[in-house]
Amino acid sequence: DEVDSTNDEAARQLAAGRPTPFVILARQQTRGRGRLGRAWHSEANGNLYSSFAFRPSLAPADMPTFTLWMGVNVCELIANFCHVAPGIKWPNDILFDGRKAGGMLTEARIDADQIRDIVFGLGLNLNSPAGAWPAELARLATSLAEQTTRPLDANRFTAALIGRVLLAYTQFVDGDYRKTFADLWNRHDVLRGRPVTVLQAGRRFSGPAAGVDDSGSLLVRATSGARPLRFHAGEVTLEKGA
Ligand code: BTN
Repeated sequence: DEVDSTNDEAARQLAAGRPTPFVILARQQTRGRGRLGRAWHSEANGNLYSSFAFRPSLAPADMPTFTLWMGVNVCELIANFCHVAPGIKWPNDILFDGRKAGGMLTEARIDADQIRDIVFGLGLNLNSPAGAWPAELARLATSLAEQTTRPLDANRFTAALIGRVLLAYTQFVDGDYRKTFADLWNRHDVLRGRPVTVLQAGRRFSGPAAGVDDSGSLLVRATSGARPLRFHAGEVTLEKGA
């Protein structure tokens, strides 16, 4: 029912030696965490807080693509299960018309040049009613139920999510994901072709987004005609009116 953070609980279970894969699921978090040290609003409003734990044989450089691959799989699941069209905003936001329905936080422990274990954290707003968000999130957040105008069966959805994430994990580790990654990314990418600004290490770069490369970096055409810039980290905003 309640945990501080499913990512933190997964990390504790990994440290205690629990065999993988496993998933921690909660209806509420008291210290839900987002990217860049932010908090993740985690009330008990019919939403899902989940963390999947793995001990893969992967190099740290595979991490960025791992999150993007998981993200497009979550989008596909939502599209099939709810008959709506979610978008993904690089690197970790699941959106509907610019409003956030989900976020991902992948964390790993790394030994030398090998990943020891990985926690894929996913917060999904399944059933939050539109009026239930705190004022600062009211215009930024949405839920799947708000999109479909029907309550979502959280248990059935979660069972389907577990199946999809485990399959996506196997495809990633086997390298099979490469065949479909670009297609799925292009299907759900909300940034492609739209003017964006990337804030990275205090510098701003603007131009049309041009998808992602094989290593999961965001491509931005900051100067027309020149090769696109590649960003493996950074904060992206869509230009106003785009
Ligand atoms: C983000 O958009 O900044 C990422 C949000 C990730 C939130 C999820 S909720 C389940 C898991 N546990 C956490 O503490 N964070 C992730």
